[in-house]
Amino acid sequence: MKTPAFLMKGLAGKKTLKGHVTINGAKNAALKAMATAVLFDKKVRLENVPHTADIDTMSAILEKLGAKITPVRNHIMEIDTTSMTAANSTDIDPKLAGGMRASVVLTGPLLARFGKVSFPAPGGCVIGARPINLFLEGYKKMGAKVTLENGLYQITAPNGLSGMDNFFHIISVGGTETLMMAATLAKGKTILSNCAKEPEIVNVAEWLTSCGAKIKGAGTSTIEITGSGGKLLHADQAKPFVTIPDRIEAGSFLLLGALCAKDLVIEKCEPKHMMAVLHLLGDAGVVTEVGADTITLKGNTRANAAFKSFNISTKEYPGFPTDLQAPAVVFLTQVTGESSVLETIFEGRFKYVEDLIQLGANITVINPREVRTKGPTAFAKTIGDLYAHDIRAGFAIVMAALVANGHFKVHNAHLIDRGYENLEERLTALGVEIRRVL
Ligand code: EPU
Repeated sequence: MKTPAFLMKGLAGKKTLKGHVTINGAKNAALKAMATAVLFDKKVRLENVPHTADIDTMSAILEKLGAKITPVRNHIMEIDTTSMTAANSTDIDPKLAGGMRASVVLTGPLLARFGKVSFPAPGGCVIGARPINLFLEGYKKMGAKVTLENGLYQITAPNGLSGMDNFFHIISVGGTETLMMAATLAKGKTILSNCAKEPEIVNVAEWLTSCGAKIKGAGTSTIEITGSGGKLLHADQAKPFVTIPDRIEAGSFLLLGALCAKDLVIEKCEPKHMMAVLHLLGDAGVVTEVGADTITLKGNTRANAAFKSFNISTKEYPGFPTDLQAPAVVFLTQVTGESSVLETIFEGRFKYVEDLIQLGANITVINPREVRTKGPTAFAKTIGDLYAHDIRAGFAIVMAALVANGHFKVHNAHLIDRGYENLEERLTALGVEIRRVL
């Protein structure tokens, strides 16, 4: 299969970018809101939806299950699941689901509404094993039967799901969201403990609550849900789901801007969701002006070598997000000092480091969960071909090419498209020489 690539020119360490970048809605909130559409008795409207490839994949999965979708236009989409039925709408397409881990979130609403769901066992992926035991254990506690046949999980709960008490032994974003969704239609009360507290979970929970779900505590470690006993939620058309700004996209542009921009305004973001990265960059010497929904880098002309390094240990929210680990490592290669970067969430998220080392970065891989960087290092111009390994590592590689001196081809741009809408257009507007080729 031919995949797109970015042809781009590095800035050779210069800080010349300037302009404004508008942050889109969080794909990791919008994807989950799409899954919640199954819980509703009529059409739902979602706003500020980023038009990324993952959103298109989730649309395709829902359409195959019988949902009617008005595709994203001007960041608005509508999903109507009224014609979905227990007979036709419970087998998630294995091929489509294989392309996107977030599809597993759909199993909760489908099981809760139709009493059954089948889906493929997710394989290992580029950032780690990504098991689904927390989902399966939760469903069993809610009274469902789980079997695995020919690589397909079959989950059945012919009498509906029942409320339960569940402690997450590992803090899981998708696990928290999925069991929360399933519990909204279950019989009785569910208490979820040791939950993830990501803002995207709060975004979805608040929307469901505004549509009649009884959910308390989202954003804290204990979420209590009183289920409706099978009665579907009712969407008030005047109250659409409004996706919160993407804190990972904003953080990615901020790290890129710190290295490459003279003047950059990051607009329509939510700085209060970005405290970990803002504080680390502040300690490094990067000066930002933080407004209610903007972050500005003004007169950012200090040499990158004048910035200081910091250590990172990725953590669940509000800690330093694993999704910014790769862009942060690129930052650390350009500033002065040694750093330890510990990846505590996923066990295989350093594949891109090999590419950075080839560019000239001084990075030592201590083990699959830790690297050490020493900066600053000027990136060489001898390497022309670079590869995106996943969404965030892909952004990091674009960032690395931009810092470097020379012309680069960043392969696998389709992986970057999964999480960043029109990245090349937005970078072009800031002064980057970049174009998409097939
Ligand atoms: N885990 C289990 N068993 C489970 C579920 C998860 O052991 O049943 C483990 C995972 O293997 C991992 C840890 O729990 O070690 C945390 O994973 P989590 O479930 O929180 O991750 P996720 O829900 O699959 C979401 C985001 C990821 C983001 C992580 C962590 C979506 C669609 N994806 O994944 O985003 O990295 O939370 O914040 O919301 C991205 O956007 O590029 C991305 C990878």
